[in-house]
Amino acid sequence: MNADDPEIPEIFPRCVNEKKTLRVTWHPGVFTFADIVVVDIQLDAQGYCDLNAFKEGMRTIGRSIKPECLILIETTVPPGTSEKIVKPVIEEEFTKRGIDVEKFTPLIAHSYERVMPGSKYVSSIRNFWRTFSGINEKAADLAEEFLTNVLDTERYPLCRLGHTNASEMAKVLENSYRATNIALMFEWAKLAENIGVNLFDVIKSIKVREGTHDNMLRPSLGVGGYCLTKDPVLANWAAEALFGLENKLPMAVSAVNINDLMPLHTIEIIEDACPSLQDKRIAILGVSYLQNVADTRHSPTKLLWENLMEKDAIISVHDPLVEVWPELGDMRIEKDLSKTLFDAEIVVFAVGHKLYKALSPEDVVQMCGKKSLIVDCSNFLTDEKIMKYLKLGCNVIGVGRGHIKQLKKKIKK
Ligand SMILES: NC(=O)c1ccc[n+]([C@@H]2O[C@H](COP(=O)([O-])OP(=O)(O)OC[C@H]3O[C@@H](n4cnc5c(N)ncnc54)[C@H](O)[C@@H]3O)[C@@H](O)[C@H]2O)c1
Repeated sequence: MNADDPEIPEIFPRCVNEKKTLRVTWHPGVFTFADIVVVDIQLDAQGYCDLNAFKEGMRTIGRSIKPECLILIETTVPPGTSEKIVKPVIEEEFTKRGIDVEKFTPLIAHSYERVMPGSKYVSSIRNFWRTFSGINEKAADLAEEFLTNVLDTERYPLCRLGHTNASEMAKVLENSYRATNIALMFEWAKLAENIGVNLFDVIKSIKVREGTHDNMLRPSLGVGGYCLTKDPVLANWAAEALFGLENKLPMAVSAVNINDLMPLHTIEIIEDACPSLQDKRIAILGVSYLQNVADTRHSPTKLLWENLMEKDAIISVHDPLVEVWPELGDMRIEKDLSKTLFDAEIVVFAVGHKLYKALSPEDVVQMCGKKSLIVDCSNFLTDEKIMKYLKLGCNVIGVGRGHIKQLKKKIKK
């Protein structure tokens, strides 16, 4: 899944074979020996919150752990989960085992992952800031000790928050902020396309304002992955289901809805350039949700693919890192780029994999064997490359890249 990180092939032989510090088991009996259990069970949301796997995991832990064992939750959870979901489950299991929960209050702490799939996967765990909290002081102290032992907290100091609701909220707000930022940029991408502006140049010019604007995000084919697509929904669910609030999070949820449908915009711009897609040969380059990773979860390419199929286009799909596409019934993904591009009338640069960014227009045109329509979903092509495609007789369009109209005029002169 994180094929790009050179540390991974080194770590596994070292920890599994040499040091024997990493062992894997399905057996819940191991919990009886643990001083700390780190929980990273998925907690999904598709409008509602699916707590089943997470709660079942908690029950299993509660059935076996020592009363003084620390449960450190790293799953991204709806605010309120440690206190309102985990604590009652563990107390129930402790009580069934005859453990006095007044004397042995469950030790529950929360510290969310900020891991980034890609070439710095391992480092993004060890060398990065962490926020944490505990259900009581003892749990927070134990979590602090553990995190200090495993992470580089000297260079990346920990941030201790006063309540588990707070650190749970921090994670979902962090991702809601990014999801909303992208949704906002998408709106401006459409304006830029209509008024002949390159939105990416505009963003670059604004990002120089360090401290206030340097983290502006960008539009693309769409937003995928496991976090930005669900975390705002988790928070919205918690507001009502765990805290009984009527006033929920409409802006965060609206951002998720906008982002979910973003791939349809790429189809709109393709249809503006090529009104009937029936029987058109379309090559889609990139299946993963993020450049240079093989993770396909909630990839926006899926909606693109499904909608193009509905229009009876003839689609070929390539990805240098993805072998099969689990979300499409383990569909095998072509590895041979020339086979994917052969005879393609439309080429969609869906993901910014290194391989695609390195392609020359001459090679693409040669592999297609024709002057195709080139679609750039997120500033993957430089202006120089766009000019080359145009000179080679191709048409080029792009999300947020309204200035291509002017480049075309230059060619005509
Ligand atoms: N993967 C990322 O890049 C990333 C980044 C930041 C945060 N997160 C968060 O980390 C959490 C985990 O994400 P992930 O990508 O590792 O998910 P995942 O689905 O890959 O892993 C979850 C694991 O939990 C196991 N599991 C399910 N039920 C269980 C049970 N009852 N007992 C024991 N194990 C059980 C599953 O078999 C699976 O191996 C999520 O909350 C996610 O939002 C992930």
